[in-house]
Amino acid sequence: MKKNQLVVQFKLNGRMVSSEVSPTMTMLDLLREKFFLTATKEGCGKGECGACTILLNGLPVNSCLQLAAALSPEDEVTSLEGLVFDPLLKKIQNSFVQEGAVQCGFCTPGMLVSSYAVLKSKKNPSDQDIKEGLAGNICRCTGYMKIMSAVKKAATEE
Ligand code: FES
Ligand code: FES
Repeated sequence: MKKNQLVVQFKLNGRMVSSEVSPTMTMLDLLREKFFLTATKEGCGKGECGACTILLNGLPVNSCLQLAAALSPEDEVTSLEGLVFDPLLKKIQNSFVQEGAVQCGFCTPGMLVSSYAVLKSKKNPSDQDIKEGLAGNICRCTGYMKIMSAVKKAATEE
């Protein structure tokens, strides 16, 4: 083991994993550089854009602000890749496409994770619930109306 490295163990997308990390490594870098899970994007790197959103113990967080060294075996990290076979994510993806809520693809993974978290916590979210759920995710191209409609559409579809 390299100097100043420590080993963390945690659940990643449903399976227990371990990795060497430096004390300053973020969860974003851990996912991308050690596990090659590149759906999670780095936008601002300082908690402002939401491109790096993942689920930590079921709740959406900015992975650029989370230290990998803080992970423990009780922690469950879910990246977009871990939701790929989840029917709720499929529904959200379809409605994003149908509503034209995707353009650059850079913010989209984070938007999908946040939308998933909104719909997981409430089956029929109000406009305000959706706005609050996506408040940390910035999109510079679609405008937010299409994204809002996509989440609403996903909520109402069987
Ligand atoms: S990269 Fe994490 S919030 Fe922007
Ligand atoms: S679609 Fe990515 S910034 Fe808007």
